[in-house]
Amino acid sequence: MANDSTPNTEDLLREQQQAFEAALPEVEDDEGLYALQVRFLGKKGSITKLRKLMGKVPPDQRRALGQAFNAVKQTVEGGIEARKLELVELARARELARRVDLSFQPQRRRAGSGHPVLSTRRQLEQVFRRLGFDVLDGPHVEVEDYNFDRLNFEPDHPARDMQDTFFITPPEGVEAGEGDSSPSFVLRTHTSPVQVRTMLSHPPPIKIVAPGTVFRNDDDPTHSPMFNQIEGLYVDRGVTMADLKATLYAFVGAFFGEGLEVRFRPSFFPFVEPGAEFDMQCPFCRDEHTGENAGCGLCKQTGWIEIGGSGMVHPAVFEACGIDSSVYTGWAFGFGIERMAMLRYAVPNLKHFFEGDQRVLEQFPC
Ligand code: PHE
Repeated sequence: MANDSTPNTEDLLREQQQAFEAALPEVEDDEGLYALQVRFLGKKGSITKLRKLMGKVPPDQRRALGQAFNAVKQTVEGGIEARKLELVELARARELARRVDLSFQPQRRRAGSGHPVLSTRRQLEQVFRRLGFDVLDGPHVEVEDYNFDRLNFEPDHPARDMQDTFFITPPEGVEAGEGDSSPSFVLRTHTSPVQVRTMLSHPPPIKIVAPGTVFRNDDDPTHSPMFNQIEGLYVDRGVTMADLKATLYAFVGAFFGEGLEVRFRPSFFPFVEPGAEFDMQCPFCRDEHTGENAGCGLCKQTGWIEIGGSGMVHPAVFEACGIDSSVYTGWAFGFGIERMAMLRYAVPNLKHFFEGDQRVLEQFPC
């Protein structure tokens, strides 16, 4: 028998039981419970270690000690089970106590709205994408060569004056042009230089639209120095003006409504031959049943609304862009995006789009 000053096994056991009972309520989850189980009853657990001392106990005390061990073991195991259930209950109670206020009104977020010109641009892109066109981009600062020369504008041709141009002085260190000291950068006056860029970098077949901002030294109630155009270009073997007209029909139908007429009027642009402006039947004064137009302010009583320019790609443009004009033909068109937005949203003045007045812009459901 151990002497009185050294704690006997039962005392040590009791100590472990007390340690367990103190630790148990602190445990908050299953992981903690498992750790506790390992700490006391695992292979190297404190109680398991004490049990190994059993062999040293005189045989007459073993039985009692064995029972004490079993009792402690049951206390630990039972405690862990009970705590496990308690934790489940606690979690459930916490969940039930959570209050959800179903009458809560979140603050309405003012998310703003798309700019009508940009959303018109997106709608146009979508119409042409559905017709099989890729959508491309081009730089606002363009080389004069692409904006004019390769599009068959003669160096001193009055056609260059058709579009009052903002010339850009190149920054220091940037070459002005091929041995040429005159300014050779411009703010592009139209999206047509994207035709040049595309033909120089892609072999036919080419079927693209290129929407974007263009700039002209022009400022009055119906002209803005900055506006947007969309360019179309289709180049392949055997492309004809009939494809152009069919495409314009499909576009007008998708954008303004099915059944509207489209017409060409002969016109001049240096980069197309033949060239034509195209109009659509005015959708605003058209009689639904007869298809006739009564005439209105928007079409200036003519029944037609001008849309843009178009034509067959000039052979000189093909040559300047490295495409064999004896093999390929193609057509191009270009028109203003603001004009489409004005017609679609019945906005009377182009300037409304650019003044940034929220009271105007807010009215567009886009
Ligand atoms: N680039 C011409 C303009 O801005 C429009 C156009 C494009 C005409 C393509 C013919 C072909 O006026």
